[in-house]
Amino acid sequence: MEKIPPHVLIFPIPALGHVNSMLKLAELLSVAGINVTFLNSEYNHSRLVRHTDICSRYTQRFPGFQFKTVTDGLPMDHPRTGDRFEDVLYSVKSVTPPLLKDMLLNEIKPPVNCIISDGFMSFAIDVARDLGIPIIYFRTIGACALWAYYSLREVIDAGELPIKGAEDMDRLIKNVPGMESYLRCRDLPSFCRASDPMDKNFQLFMGETRSSPRADGLILNTFEDLEGPILSQIRTICPNIYTIGPLNAHLKATVPESTSLKSSNSFWEVDRSCISWLDKQPPQSVIYVSFGSIAVLSREQLLEFWHGLVNSNKRFLWVIRPDSISGKNGEDEIPEELVGATKERGYMVGWVPQEEVLAHQAVALFLTHSGWNSTLESIVAGVPMLCWPYFADQQVNSRFVGEVWKIGVYMKDLCDRNVVEKMVNELTVERKEEFMKASSEIADLARKSVNEGGSSYCNLDRLINDIESMSSRVFSC
Ligand code: UDX
Repeated sequence: MEKIPPHVLIFPIPALGHVNSMLKLAELLSVAGINVTFLNSEYNHSRLVRHTDICSRYTQRFPGFQFKTVTDGLPMDHPRTGDRFEDVLYSVKSVTPPLLKDMLLNEIKPPVNCIISDGFMSFAIDVARDLGIPIIYFRTIGACALWAYYSLREVIDAGELPIKGAEDMDRLIKNVPGMESYLRCRDLPSFCRASDPMDKNFQLFMGETRSSPRADGLILNTFEDLEGPILSQIRTICPNIYTIGPLNAHLKATVPESTSLKSSNSFWEVDRSCISWLDKQPPQSVIYVSFGSIAVLSREQLLEFWHGLVNSNKRFLWVIRPDSISGKNGEDEIPEELVGATKERGYMVGWVPQEEVLAHQAVALFLTHSGWNSTLESIVAGVPMLCWPYFADQQVNSRFVGEVWKIGVYMKDLCDRNVVEKMVNELTVERKEEFMKASSEIADLARKSVNEGGSSYCNLDRLINDIESMSSRVFSC
């Protein structure tokens, strides 16, 4: 009798960082012969279809692959940027549960054997339990941030929060096990800065993370050699963890011919002219600057970074998304020295193929907001980082980059042209060798983890086997 392939529903939070890594997982599972239904928000799916080749890359290549869409509950003209991102989270949480249940019962065929939901959607566990379907969480942040989020209840119970003003920011936090010697108030996730731990966002992030042990397993886009000690802590509450990252490297190792390696999973049109520009620059001469897909800079911050980069005298490639600067109306003149220096040694674009940029030999340094995907992509490429965390997990990630992995430095709670210039020099001149060496060692470990026999390679195999064994069980819907 012919074996029927398992069918998995993958459902990310509607944000690019989440969709991007979950699409990579979807491709790896499809290559392994698992049928995937990928559930996007209507808004994001329309942007993906407009700017990428996801349909041919997924549905034409894999006959068992389908995209489905669901509303995120917000009007189409809502900006969905970082300054209003909570709106997306609350809206999804309130409108989606009955829609998801109805789709699983009536629309998604054949019945799914397993749900892989974003680990920020505890309602998916309730729906899955209701329908008797196994559910595995995929948390798209690093283990370091996940463990910090999870431990916040103990941090509060010990009276370590709230933070008591600016002078309290360097106090060490003692109740995130494993991080006692280096996690300061300043490095806690951004929502911990609320004066009241009963704050709505604080409760949302902490509450969603506390639901992790309820899932049947937990997928993380990380690797054992990077976050082993913290993973051991998380295993005390979630024993079934699949560390399968870095997913971009994993995909490259498993499907070297994958067109995904050249294509993007982006919500914006990729401007490939930056690659021709990079081709003309000397090796290791360019600072690549990007603050991810949802961060928004004020005009003042934009100018501080710009002056700092220009004053460092380095070449730079800077991604400025169309929606990434607040208060654009009534623009002031851009100072002449910035315009001139940018023409000479800078290049600004709306969106780049980031993995390709980071792998380019001209790139020496990544000035980043420390989003988890960006952090991992920089690790894989062996590029040191200058971190300017914007929100959520990025505060934790940047502390790990600087203090634990020692592959970069961070600029926290300030945005100052002199600091930018000084840190660029520290990373590309004064301590260049040290950072290059540390970054290349971690890049090697990342590659090893996804090659045959590596920890992420074996964990993906285990995940696939577990999904296959779920499909041999019969579920009620
Ligand atoms: C956010 C959070 O920052 C992140 O930590 C969390 O895990 C997911 O949500 P985002 O702010 O977009 O995501 O940052 P990041 O996780 O770094 O993802 C950005 C993605 O966009 C990366 O995969 C990067 O390669 C891609 N990108 C960025 C491009 O392809 N082109 C660009 O020009 C800029």
